[in-house]
Amino acid sequence: MSTVKRDTNLSYNCWLGYRKIKNKDLLIEYKKAFSCISVFGETKTIDAALYELKYGISKMLGKTPRIAGSESSGGINIGLVDRFDILSSKEINDIGDEGFIIKNHDKRIIITGKTGRGILYGVFTFLRLMQLERPVSSMNVIDNPVNMLRMVNQWDNMDGTIERGYAGNSIFYRNNNFVRSKKRIRDYARLLASVGINGIVLNNVNVHHYETRMITKTFLPKVAALADIFREYGITVFLSVNYASPVEIGGLPTADPLDTAVREWWSGTVKEIYSYIPDFGGFLVKADSEYRPGPFTYGRNHAEGANMLASVLKPFNGIVIWRCFVYNCLQDWRDRETDRAKAAYDNFMPLDGEFLDNVILQIKNGPMDFQVREPVSPLFGGLKKTNQMLELQITQEYTGQQKHVCYLVPQWKEVLDFDTYSKGEGSTVKRIISGRVYPQKYCGIAAVSNIGDDETWTGHILAQANLYGYGRLAWNPDMDMNGITDEWIILTFSDHPTVVKNIKSILLNSWRTYENYTSPLGIGWMVNPGHHYGPSVDGYEYSKWGTYHRADCFGIGVDRTVKGTGYTAQYHKRNADMYDNIESCPEELLLFFHRVPYNYRLKSGKTLIQHIYDTHFEGVEQVREFKSKWLSLKDLIDPERFEHVLDRLNTQIEDAIEWRDVVNTYFYRKSGIPDEKGRKIY
Ligand code: GCU
Repeated sequence: MSTVKRDTNLSYNCWLGYRKIKNKDLLIEYKKAFSCISVFGETKTIDAALYELKYGISKMLGKTPRIAGSESSGGINIGLVDRFDILSSKEINDIGDEGFIIKNHDKRIIITGKTGRGILYGVFTFLRLMQLERPVSSMNVIDNPVNMLRMVNQWDNMDGTIERGYAGNSIFYRNNNFVRSKKRIRDYARLLASVGINGIVLNNVNVHHYETRMITKTFLPKVAALADIFREYGITVFLSVNYASPVEIGGLPTADPLDTAVREWWSGTVKEIYSYIPDFGGFLVKADSEYRPGPFTYGRNHAEGANMLASVLKPFNGIVIWRCFVYNCLQDWRDRETDRAKAAYDNFMPLDGEFLDNVILQIKNGPMDFQVREPVSPLFGGLKKTNQMLELQITQEYTGQQKHVCYLVPQWKEVLDFDTYSKGEGSTVKRIISGRVYPQKYCGIAAVSNIGDDETWTGHILAQANLYGYGRLAWNPDMDMNGITDEWIILTFSDHPTVVKNIKSILLNSWRTYENYTSPLGIGWMVNPGHHYGPSVDGYEYSKWGTYHRADCFGIGVDRTVKGTGYTAQYHKRNADMYDNIESCPEELLLFFHRVPYNYRLKSGKTLIQHIYDTHFEGVEQVREFKSKWLSLKDLIDPERFEHVLDRLNTQIEDAIEWRDVVNTYFYRKSGIPDEKGRKIY
């Protein structure tokens, strides 16, 4: 029997569950210090901050704090900086618009910022420190977000489905309309704000029939109602738009960006949007990719396409986020130099410097498509005169679809820390996207959300850690991975040392483990076409030209060196040389960059084929270890969440076995080389 009591809200509350403070002395100290709140200033976001403070403190102390008029000076004081004389000008100068100060001063805790957003982030930080049971005396923090834009992209469709959604249906839409009840949406805003997210794109990048109409009078009042909720939590609303809107809903014969009537149509539309949502963020655009319309249809390039929209948004301070995920999915790659990996760079590098200053290019972390392992896109460090954002995928499309545990913070850390050498050593991705290498008017980070209307939000409770970790890294990419992981576990489950140790070990090993039993050494895919779940070694929806990995009886991998497709030449010399040479190429990306015979010796001394067999056997064993680590938490975790994760781990074991057997069998048959260890391969 679990000793932790049943509470059906535990999955739903995620990391904002706020358990009662356990340490008795600290509880007394907290009760003394935090039993009264005074508020200085009135805005909707300050109201939200107050609500959160009251809610969190009541749950953690078991007692609702008293709200004093603004004249009271004891307890917790929240408000804008200009209301507190005791702040030094240095302290005030140290924070930007979204930064905050938590200051412990003369029996008061002051939580302040220059905007409602700053105060809200300060409040969530304060509540986090409380739940982590930090002494009152240590509550002095000055912090600022490193990235300007910290966004989530919903891939939600108006029929209620979610593209690549693995946690039920949309919380926003149903039956081609907006959902009535807004409770869940507000709770989502709370979760996002608690980790510092400040922007959301409300609909799928693939804008279909109904979603095209979101920018019309029929739906704008409903979008505005969502914007009202998100605004309270400091989150700006954006929409994905269909580039062919002037034709599809405007009745025009063309969507040519250089056509005057087209421009006027967009200008009128934008004006109307701002009449409903005065602080509307702008548009996200997927153009000329995977059958979406775009400027190519009219013989225009992407700068011409994006700039037209940017110029009509500019008077309202709106921005255009233009995706670089542009490639020809019908490409015939039998030709040696044809390579999908090269597409984004080939399309956008020649346009560097041609975009208006309210356009941002949104670049996926890798040149392909959110595979378990990819190199970093060479557009980072390539583009020098263009605003840019990194696009990550929290939803686990190619990493286990929230049925398997796959904690992506370690992957994202590698991406953020990657040195492009663009402007000498230290030109890391994290510094580029935060405008610290090349000046940019707008920049930041976005990620495809992983939530739906499932009770757990994310389908797999351990996948909540990905949403949390994304927000924390978006706020500060230098945050230590161990710290983020510990925080999430303590806030979500408990600070019991075994709970922290075991869950952390599962999380931190899960990405490598997933990689072990799926596609090896950076080759990618090997999933069933369409839904992308489960193994299919030759599977790739667009591959009418042969397999993606190009395995035959001699070897596997794609030669992307200068002698091959020429992809490596898109990097700065230091990285280009590193990838070009098979000896210096990081082994985990070996098959991405090189075509390698099965008997090639890896640094471990093993042959490539033996490495494939071994890692696939190991991967399954590692998932079994996850299960035994989890089982040992039976009495330390509430039964609902314990059973939920256990059930997912059982599925993961079964699926990992399938992956192992399908992949190993495939390569055994291709290579004809038996496993040195004589294990059973079908
Ligand atoms: C992937 C994904 C699609 C998505 C696309 C994109 O290809 O499978 O569902 O639309 O990425 O990022 O636009």
